[in-house]
Amino acid sequence: MRERIVAANWKMNMGIDSGFELVDNISKLLVKQPAENVTVIIAPSFISLFSIADMIFEGDSLKYAGQNCHYEQSGAYTGEISAEMIADTGAEYVIVGHSERRRNFGETNEMVGKKVAAALRAGLKPIVCCGETIEQRKAGKQSDAVKTQLTESLFSLSKEDFANVIIAYEPVWAIGTGENATPEQAQEMHGYIRGLINKKYAKKMAEATPIIYGGSCNAANAKSLFKLPDVDGGLIGGASLKAADFVAIVHSFPEE
Ligand code: 13P
Repeated sequence: MRERIVAANWKMNMGIDSGFELVDNISKLLVKQPAENVTVIIAPSFISLFSIADMIFEGDSLKYAGQNCHYEQSGAYTGEISAEMIADTGAEYVIVGHSERRRNFGETNEMVGKKVAAALRAGLKPIVCCGETIEQRKAGKQSDAVKTQLTESLFSLSKEDFANVIIAYEPVWAIGTGENATPEQAQEMHGYIRGLINKKYAKKMAEATPIIYGGSCNAANAKSLFKLPDVDGGLIGGASLKAADFVAIVHSFPEE
């Protein structure tokens, strides 16, 4: 069976104390109701990441991620954080190419590709985001948009490297809008992405790569998304900021 993953992307939310409290509450809920066969990842701000990633919480099974990284290992890049620094905190993952970074900070597919390479260099697993804008979807170009993103940022990786990649399909129009992709739309795009991996890296890789969904995924709709054959979990924004909601999402997979 493919790895099931639920990752919390806190974005620029939660301070040190509130972040600590949220992780503590999530941990306690997961002790009461363990998440069997689900990898649960928290991506806090860098400030919180440093203060919580090497803490041991009750019954700890949580993994941690950075929300971004620079592609150089060190140097004169004021305000930036390298993949190696993220790995230093004890984090095992990093989100790369989120649409908010593409839109607000001009990240191109080429830069995303360099960040993926940096993550792998540092021993982190990259969670690579892709997804179309509303204009692209209205023009029926969602598949082309995602294909270009993945081709230009991921598909020159070796098989060995690609085996460490997690893909997050996040339609831009669904992020923070309350309008999630319908199960049909999500399955269509996840199936399409798996097909692209199949073409590039063959069937075994396509079947093994986790593809998670992000965009207004919450405790009310996660079950209908996580039961889809090609949806392996979620990358959760707003609904990850409340422990009970996030843990409910973690428990939204169908019985095995
Ligand atoms: P929301 O769940 O708030 O729509 O955000 C999704 C997202 O961007 C996760 O990376």
